[in-house]
Amino acid sequence: MKTLDNQNQNGAEKALTSLAAFTQQYQRLEAGGLGWANHLIGLHEAKVALVTGGSGGIGSQIARVLAVSGAKVMLAARRTAQLSEVQAAIIKELESIGYADPAARVQIQPECDISDPNQVTRLVTHTLELFGQVDYLVNNAAVSGGEAMVMDLPLEIWRQTLDANLNSNYALLRLLAPQMKARNSGFVVNVSSYFGGEKYVAIAYPNRADYAVSKAGQRAMVETLARSLGPEIQITAIAPGPVDGERLRGSSARPGMFSRRARVILDNKRLNDVYTLLVKLQRTPEQTVTELLPTLLVNDVPAVMQDPRQPEALRQLATVIWEQSDPAGSSRSHFLNESLAHKLMGRLKKGGYLPTTSAASQPESVQPILAVAPPDPFFSPAEYEREGQGVQSRNLGMLYLKKMPTDLDLAITLAYQLADHNVTGETFYSSGGLRVERAVTEGELFGKAGHERLEKLQGTTIYLVGEYLQQHLTRLAQTFLDEYAVQRIVFLTHSPEAAQTLLEALPVHYRGERVVALATEGQLEVGFDRARQLYGPPVAIISTPFQPLPTCRLTGSSTGDWSQVLSPADFAGMVEQHITHHFRIAQKAAFLDAVRLVLVTPATDTHSSDEEFALANFIKTTLHAFTATLGAESERSVHYGAVNQVDLTRRARDEEPRNPSEAEEELTRFVNAVLLTSAPLPNPQESRYRSRIYRGNAITV
Ligand code: COA
Repeated sequence: MKTLDNQNQNGAEKALTSLAAFTQQYQRLEAGGLGWANHLIGLHEAKVALVTGGSGGIGSQIARVLAVSGAKVMLAARRTAQLSEVQAAIIKELESIGYADPAARVQIQPECDISDPNQVTRLVTHTLELFGQVDYLVNNAAVSGGEAMVMDLPLEIWRQTLDANLNSNYALLRLLAPQMKARNSGFVVNVSSYFGGEKYVAIAYPNRADYAVSKAGQRAMVETLARSLGPEIQITAIAPGPVDGERLRGSSARPGMFSRRARVILDNKRLNDVYTLLVKLQRTPEQTVTELLPTLLVNDVPAVMQDPRQPEALRQLATVIWEQSDPAGSSRSHFLNESLAHKLMGRLKKGGYLPTTSAASQPESVQPILAVAPPDPFFSPAEYEREGQGVQSRNLGMLYLKKMPTDLDLAITLAYQLADHNVTGETFYSSGGLRVERAVTEGELFGKAGHERLEKLQGTTIYLVGEYLQQHLTRLAQTFLDEYAVQRIVFLTHSPEAAQTLLEALPVHYRGERVVALATEGQLEVGFDRARQLYGPPVAIISTPFQPLPTCRLTGSSTGDWSQVLSPADFAGMVEQHITHHFRIAQKAAFLDAVRLVLVTPATDTHSSDEEFALANFIKTTLHAFTATLGAESERSVHYGAVNQVDLTRRARDEEPRNPSEAEEELTRFVNAVLLTSAPLPNPQESRYRSRIYRGNAITV
């Protein structure tokens, strides 16, 4: 008993001594502005972290906090000077804490563009050479994207965003996973965004579809790969909303996030007002776009207001602009600036309102379009300020915690998460997440389209885009033609062979010229325009993928063989075929009046492998961000199309058709889902659910 008392006393003394040491350490850290590091020092000792986008913002703070926690860090980024500054600052802090050889602990890889696969390989090789291992991969680097509506977003920018923000994440993971798995130590964190959505919920991010899709893909990747990478490798995502830091506040080189959003809003509102006017006037018999355009490009708002020969709608727009704009900006007296004029011409050309030989055939050209270029500023500083303040206060009101985290807050949270060995496949939301009214939930197919709606398909033209889902495409064509008296089905395939096979599957209609087929052979947009020229615009477009999903493994074999595992190129190819493919079709559809666009995700059944099922879920989740965003944007468009997604991928494998009769039943359900989403919309008087039903839903067959 006595011995035990002595032991207790010794234990208590030791505890008191270490508490005193701890308090002393805290006081020392606090004096150096590092009080937050007290519990973290040593937490990640002997670990190696690779952090992309480490030259500023969240990335530099993550690298800093992990280094302070004892990890060796490699920071990669494009900006050399900033990266060196961050490196020097971290080394200084490590010195002040007392880490041995701090310079060797913090390495950088400058001029590293992670959207380039060669540079990704170089980064991984260099890191492994220096440190011998990577335990933590933090996929943080990201670009902002095109910050434009889908109808204006150039395909190259779309691809760049997906390469930088999404494909790069898989490429790095794929290169590092073999050694992580073999060493039984790996944690991958994708820095996504609240605008990447939540499980089964997509968030519309108008004017930023490329960014939203890349962020949804980062989150979906985590859900998809967690099972195959575990238990050795954990993979999670963090989804910050607005973060109080460099990116949000901006710098001398780049305006802050809310100011940039204000610019996008002001620009788009003006562009949409002018474009809407032209399209509406073109619909009337009096005036065509070609006749009106010269007046607009003279760019004189007061002159138009006072000229009774101008169409009433144009004079009204001029009056609204004059009365509502700030006199401190030239946007009051001019309809457009050069940049908006180029965008307008691009739209008019893409929408088929202008002959392709006009100046509009080169919307990206730097040739001035306007007769009078307005002096700067176009929108006044006060207008930017007001709009930016509006965005900021609306956004802060959406945060559950009513406060934004800082870059450092996020980095500290992440450092603690990396010490949790029992979590994978999850996404963590800072500030408790955002309340977003436009959240669109994935749903199951309920009911069928009303007969009175379907009857309106009679005599119309429908485009069916696709190649490998031949049974689905043929059944759709038969239903549209035989049951709903559609005048013509236009198949748009990739290859001439698929075009021929589809035509031959419908011999009677083929002979009667009610089905036609065009092979696009890599030139989707050209094929689409050709179809429009030959057969007129469609009332509905059903976009199915050209290729099936890759059938690769998602992790190495038990013997450590990774040669059969989905490569970075396979991953990028899948994103191109199943996501970008739909973007290209959607961009064409965005210029058609009241068109119903249906995006179809890959089919899986009981014969599909677990990997195909996992990838199909990745695609449907990622694509839903696009569908939801496009749905919100199309409500702001004069063309007011509807967009929905039909998922041939079920949530659970036991829902997949198991035998021919169930496969037949599923085919009928697929046709019903397409009918529901491609039939004409009820008008607002007929259904108050109109916008709820047609705003970017995803329906599982
Ligand atoms: N064409 C015409 N009008 C447009 C437009 C367009 N392309 N884009 C926006 N507008 C209009 C909207 O309709 C709205 O008009 P209203 O005031 O008459 O209703 C106005 O501009 C304000 O738009 P915004 O506040 O941006 O709303 P939104 O629905 O377009 O987007 C959010 C909502 C939340 C996405 C947006 O506020 C936002 O970007 N927030 C910041 C996001 C963020 O925190 N990001 C950090 C993590 S990545």
